Amino acid sequence: MSMIDLAVTGGTVVTPEGVGRADVLVRGESILSVESPGGGRGAARIVDASGKIVLAGGVDVHTHFLIGFMGQRSVYDFHSGGVAALRGGTTTVIDFALQRRGRTMMDGVKHRRVQADRHVACDYGLHLIVTDVSGGLLDELPKVAAAGVTSIKAYMVYEKEQLRLDDGALLALLGAAGRLGMLVGVHAENAGIIDHETARRLAAGERAPKFHALARPAIAEAEAIHRAIYLAEKAAAPLYVFHLASGEGCDLIQAARGRGSRVFTETCPHYLALDADAYERKDAHLFVMSPPLRTKADQDRLWLGLKTGTVTGVASDDASFGADAKRLGAQSFETIANGVPGAEHRLPVFYTLAVAQGRLTLAEFAHAWSEGPARLFGLAPRKGAIRPGADADLVVVDPEARARLGADSNFGAIGYSPYAGMEVSGLPSVTVHRGQVVVEAGRFLGREGQGRFLARALPDTSLPK
Ligand code: URP
Ligand code: ZN
Repeated sequence: MSMIDLAVTGGTVVTPEGVGRADVLVRGESILSVESPGGGRGAARIVDASGKIVLAGGVDVHTHFLIGFMGQRSVYDFHSGGVAALRGGTTTVIDFALQRRGRTMMDGVKHRRVQADRHVACDYGLHLIVTDVSGGLLDELPKVAAAGVTSIKAYMVYEKEQLRLDDGALLALLGAAGRLGMLVGVHAENAGIIDHETARRLAAGERAPKFHALARPAIAEAEAIHRAIYLAEKAAAPLYVFHLASGEGCDLIQAARGRGSRVFTETCPHYLALDADAYERKDAHLFVMSPPLRTKADQDRLWLGLKTGTVTGVASDDASFGADAKRLGAQSFETIANGVPGAEHRLPVFYTLAVAQGRLTLAEFAHAWSEGPARLFGLAPRKGAIRPGADADLVVVDPEARARLGADSNFGAIGYSPYAGMEVSGLPSVTVHRGQVVVEAGRFLGREGQGRFLARALPDTSLPK
């Protein structure tokens, strides 16, 4: 009997050590070794990756499966969202547990695990959305970290949704979480500017979707990032900025890191691929997310951030409200459910713009795709990179395959894609999850509930030397 259960052979393999032709050997759920081509001969199963690229399975640290938000529900739950992620070569997501105001943090974690554990198709971890630090609620943080939920999201906006944390609460949270080695991330937008601009636009009858973006100008994002960095520095705590869209925000983060502050960020495929011109389209409501799409100049600064390491990763911020749900709010921009689907097409959209169009090297791409986020969020060395002993999570990418994404390209009944019309290359052909081929040519071969909850170690918030 072969000692090797699976070999992915002959591909261009991206490892932390470099990029080169190799065979990846798998035993059970783990990577056994990376060998010279030919080393995988005799494996019980061979996936021929000749002419293809072999990456670690993607790590998408920002998904919103099974959410209700702004009166709408996501199409994806933990099964269908996990299948979409796996079809796109992502094998691990970090989703969110919600602490409701007046309730304990662990209530939120337990509730989310009940929703996810028996259904999730890919591996998953959780960030905790903290909405209330009153009374002794912060005392629960050590328990939360011990449950493997070692990072937090704090919303600086969305009071109507009962999500917003005010500055005093944020400062207290940064201090308490930072002392425990946890990482607080922010949805950074200035609530006052947005509320004022929204009220002004509505009073003037400016209700079309494009006014969503005008009511959330770049200054609202940059000011909130500036404030969050200041508070984190005063609390001597690390900080993460979710879904960075603003070039000025990127500059602020770069400057903070330059003075030794542990500030990290992600951007999203939609901020790299699309700009505010989308709000001039007839279907502009489909592009409503927060922060909104910005300018080509912002995109250039985000690319520079990825190139220089200021931006650790590219996460999807998948929020799969269907086309019908988005249309319900189209008459008045402030009622459109914020967010776009993206877990499935993170790979081809980002690969096309980054590698195929020459903005990043393959190694830089792989860092943002999986390795950097996995390390930052306490998933390494098990996840994020092809190395012996790691989980055998792999994606075989065909760099020559091309497709034009369409309204129906997403898995499930979403009914639109923000990338419809975009020609992409770098399509995933096979996804391996813990040593099993779970997607081949777009077909899901796994089963509901095959994913596992990942109790994460504390984040690695060291800055590069
Ligand atoms: O518009 C967005 N980003 N929707 C999803 C929720 C969030 O703020 O991440
Ligand atoms: Zn957010």
